[in-house]
Amino acid sequence: MRQSNKWEPQSWRKFPIKQAPQYRNLEELERVEGELRGYPPLVFAKEVDLLKAKLSRVNEENLFILQGGDCAESFTRFGGQRIRDFYKLMLQMSVILGFCSGMEILKIGRIAGQFAKPRSEEFEEIDGKMLPSFRGDIINGSEPTAESRVHQPQRMLQAYHQSASTLNLLRAFCNGGMADLHLIQQYNLDFVRSHPMGEKYQTLTQEISQSLAFIESCGIEAKQAPKLSEFFISHEALLLPYEECLCRTDSLSGRIYDCSAHFLWIGERTFDSQAHLEFMRGISNPKGIKVSPRMTSTDLLRLLDWFNPDNQKGEIVLIVRMGETIKHSLPPLLEVLEKEKREVVLLNDPMHGNTIKQGGIKTRYFASILQELDRFFEICADCGMKAGGIHLEMTAEEVTECIGGMIDVGSLSKNYQTTCDPRLNASQSLELAFGLGEKMRKRFG
Ligand code: PEP
Ligand code: CO
Repeated sequence: MRQSNKWEPQSWRKFPIKQAPQYRNLEELERVEGELRGYPPLVFAKEVDLLKAKLSRVNEENLFILQGGDCAESFTRFGGQRIRDFYKLMLQMSVILGFCSGMEILKIGRIAGQFAKPRSEEFEEIDGKMLPSFRGDIINGSEPTAESRVHQPQRMLQAYHQSASTLNLLRAFCNGGMADLHLIQQYNLDFVRSHPMGEKYQTLTQEISQSLAFIESCGIEAKQAPKLSEFFISHEALLLPYEECLCRTDSLSGRIYDCSAHFLWIGERTFDSQAHLEFMRGISNPKGIKVSPRMTSTDLLRLLDWFNPDNQKGEIVLIVRMGETIKHSLPPLLEVLEKEKREVVLLNDPMHGNTIKQGGIKTRYFASILQELDRFFEICADCGMKAGGIHLEMTAEEVTECIGGMIDVGSLSKNYQTTCDPRLNASQSLELAFGLGEKMRKRFG
């Protein structure tokens, strides 16, 4: 790729792009971009630096990442209750994983900006009609009509406002006592009492209660848990006009941050889109790269040279999403990274390589998800590298989108709500945390 030395938030516009919307009304697009440029940033540079500092410690210290949330946030399925339940679920999972591994769990939501979706096909057939594909609420509507599928710039404004109010509530929860260890532990106790797998994880939950009681008996207040409440937001940096217009220069350092989120990642379908690579290289946020079996070690090293020429710690998170082929595709990449001494944090996204269709509906087997996670931990250990965390598509609602786990979801259509990929529901997410927790206890505890 051609390297022009000077980077600006808009320099991506000179490069060929993949997955870009086709806006018809360019005047409207410019008006929306102007408005977004004038809006306040959603996150603050110092917060981004804090996340980067934490990421730089993952490989050497007791830190583990839990990144999760919707495949695609929605304009219609939006409200305080959903945000609250999601934050609570992330905390419940963090307590389980943190207790079992002895590590601080760094929580990063796929939330407050995760709206734009890459699509493999430009068009999709619905009830015999060919329609432009749904690309996420920030671009067009999911309703199967030609009108709703038009790409509309003003949707970016609604996405910004929804992100701002989502983040506002998350910040209130972080500061307002939601992360009370007793409360979260009580939610977990209630869950194991009422769930068929309760018996299996009762002992583990009791041990957490005992530890809490012990801490308090020593006079240490377990109510205020600052590291438990801390929360960061993230999304795929797909829709570049939106990302560009939320770039801001930090007045202290003079560096440019994409202030739409703390952490941004480049997706599987755009790691070879020159415009996306150009945009990502210049922002001062830590960056994720989705790594699929399609990525060769040459591609990977080129991306790392491009995004992190000085090989700094905390800059790059590789989000491995390989499915079945992980056992063959990941070891050669890790060997190269080891040999070249590249500073990367390794996460596993066990969702995107395990999507199947059943009766025409997209789903994922819980067992396949667990299997990829297991293999990821094994391969990392074999290569002498740390498994730095997990990346999940999950929701606190009891949806029926993924199959398996101890509660039978029954028919997928019973409560299939996602507008994009199938998510783990709350029970499946907690079951995954308990199962992974037990394994981490053996490995790290
Ligand atoms: C996603 O994270 O929702 C996604 C589309 O992932 P990937 O780019 O890995 O396919
Ligand atoms: Co997805």
